[in-house]
Amino acid sequence: MKITVIHGQNHKGSTWHVADELLKNIKTQHDVKEFFLPRDLNHFCTGCFACLKSPENCPFRADKEQIDLALKEADLLVFTTPNYCMLPSAPMKAFMDLFFTNWISHKPCAEMFSKRAVVISTTAGIGAKKAAKPIETMLLFWGVPKIYRYGLAVNATGWENMPEKKKAIIIRDMKKLGKKLSVETAPNVGVRTRFLFRMMAGMQNKNWGASPEEKSYWQERGWLNGKRPWKD
Ligand SMILES: Cc1cc2nc3c(=O)[nH]c(=O)nc-3n(C[C@H](O)[C@H](O)[C@H](O)COP(=O)(O)O)c2cc1C
Repeated sequence: MKITVIHGQNHKGSTWHVADELLKNIKTQHDVKEFFLPRDLNHFCTGCFACLKSPENCPFRADKEQIDLALKEADLLVFTTPNYCMLPSAPMKAFMDLFFTNWISHKPCAEMFSKRAVVISTTAGIGAKKAAKPIETMLLFWGVPKIYRYGLAVNATGWENMPEKKKAIIIRDMKKLGKKLSVETAPNVGVRTRFLFRMMAGMQNKNWGASPEEKSYWQERGWLNGKRPWKD
């Protein structure tokens, strides 16, 4: 199983340790590619819309390329972020903006419709699930059919000062989730994803997309004539 992990932080704190615990509990043989933000993609979207014509036109394409490839190749995607002011970290938000053309409303990647994903967040007090939610929404709009969201209040500013009882909860929960993810089943594309895809196909058909290149992208793949990426 190929796993790509995108960390919304450079440091190996509580959130990183949750993901590490999860990876240790995935018992099928796996190959992990880990990226840290902002270390591995230190840019903000400039809003130039050059990517709407072609992703190659993004001024940060060279730095995005390796991550893009790893995202497409993976069977399982893992995203982590600490809760920063009830939201994902700023580097994670920047990442989300830099990959916005992956949304079903623009140029969805066929590869996404067969993946599973996990979004992990920790917080000191409240808001871990709230911080993870925008990433979950992004993945839903990328077309990922099965998304697990894990958020935990750890009552700490880092792994080293986390209460032992919280560490025990993480170990227990990641054992459970790791076991589930060790079974390599192709996830079903659910009603929500099918509905979104159909709606966006209708939008492209009516020329309500963001660029003519976007419509051609859909046309070339037969998606405007009933073909679906999860059936290819
Ligand atoms: C900029 C910043 C904002 C934060 N905002 C919140 C917050 O709104 N609520 C909260 O309970 N904890 C907040 N925290 C605490 C972290 O979410 C918490 O300590 C988290 O577990 C840190 O994870 P890490 O060790 O992976 O960095 C904040 C921390 C930072 C640095």
